[in-house]
Amino acid sequence: MVTIKDVARRAGVSIATVSHALSGHRPVGHETATRVFQAIDELGYRPNRLAASMVTGRTRTLGLVVPDIANPFFAALVRAVEHAAFKRGYTTIACSSELNASLEEQYLDLLIDQQVDAVAYVGDHRRVRPRLERLDERGTAVVLLDRIDNDVVGSLLSVSADNTAGGALAAEHLLQLGHRHLGVAAGPRRLVTSEGRLSGFRERAGDASVSVVNARDFTLEAGVKAVELLVSGSPEITALFCENDLIALGAIRVAHERGIRIPDDLSIVGYDDIFVSQLVTPGLTTIRQPVDKLGAVAVDTVVRLSERSDPAPTSVVLPVELVRRESCGPAPRRVARGASSRSR
Ligand code: RIB
Repeated sequence: MVTIKDVARRAGVSIATVSHALSGHRPVGHETATRVFQAIDELGYRPNRLAASMVTGRTRTLGLVVPDIANPFFAALVRAVEHAAFKRGYTTIACSSELNASLEEQYLDLLIDQQVDAVAYVGDHRRVRPRLERLDERGTAVVLLDRIDNDVVGSLLSVSADNTAGGALAAEHLLQLGHRHLGVAAGPRRLVTSEGRLSGFRERAGDASVSVVNARDFTLEAGVKAVELLVSGSPEITALFCENDLIALGAIRVAHERGIRIPDDLSIVGYDDIFVSQLVTPGLTTIRQPVDKLGAVAVDTVVRLSERSDPAPTSVVLPVELVRRESCGPAPRRVARGASSRSR
């Protein structure tokens, strides 16, 4: 096996110089660096990262915990984090807690045992705070991502998108189309993202009527159940804000099953802008979250903290945007109650 000593001999430099050229921790002259990397290429040398971690105490790995990797939003977030980490020379260990508190805690313990340099965490950080503090105390940089309860963030870094503004954008769009009887298929009641979107929506809705049902989870199945309750209990609604796109896909299924035309009878707005939202018919109007930027900013922030380089901002909130497609239309002219052109 080719060692760092072979590279040093071939390049005519010390082992320390090869190490500095690789790590970038000490300046190395251009001509010397060229000789080192030429020797690495000629010999096919691969640094032994495990051996290096014994010396530097750093594994150059980042742990990422998300609630449900089967949700396309989180799959895109994992990809964004992994790409950003790779560009910084870090390997990512992605963990999907499957919305299971015990599994989530086991994963955090595993990341502690793996000696990761940094952790990006998406979940209910109030519940796992002791483990996050333990990571922080042992010098592992931690960044909270996406679901942030600002009342308990403390000194931890956080990166999220503006949920309140997202809810307000959805309400504004529906009001501008003339809707005044609004429904909200909200996410799980306990989540700060659900509450933030709902409060933004309610505030902007003003005196329009707003009927709300909370889905048990941000999943298609939970969305179907929530929307069935909503359209049965509030037949007057002409527009529906779903707090993520999977719930909105559930709403589209319920509408088709009940002969409710989209958008003629019912307009639907989703949240996230996952890939499939542009593929369904009608295309889903939704609130786009900047998922690539969420991942990139989270990695940049937590790596800067981990490497003790220039200070990272402690809290970043990124803007969201409305993406108009065909699932929203003008409010239908109401026929006399009971004579509606659709079954409920
Ligand atoms: O789709 C999953 C939802 O939960 C997203 O809106 C994301 O913000 C997360 O909180």
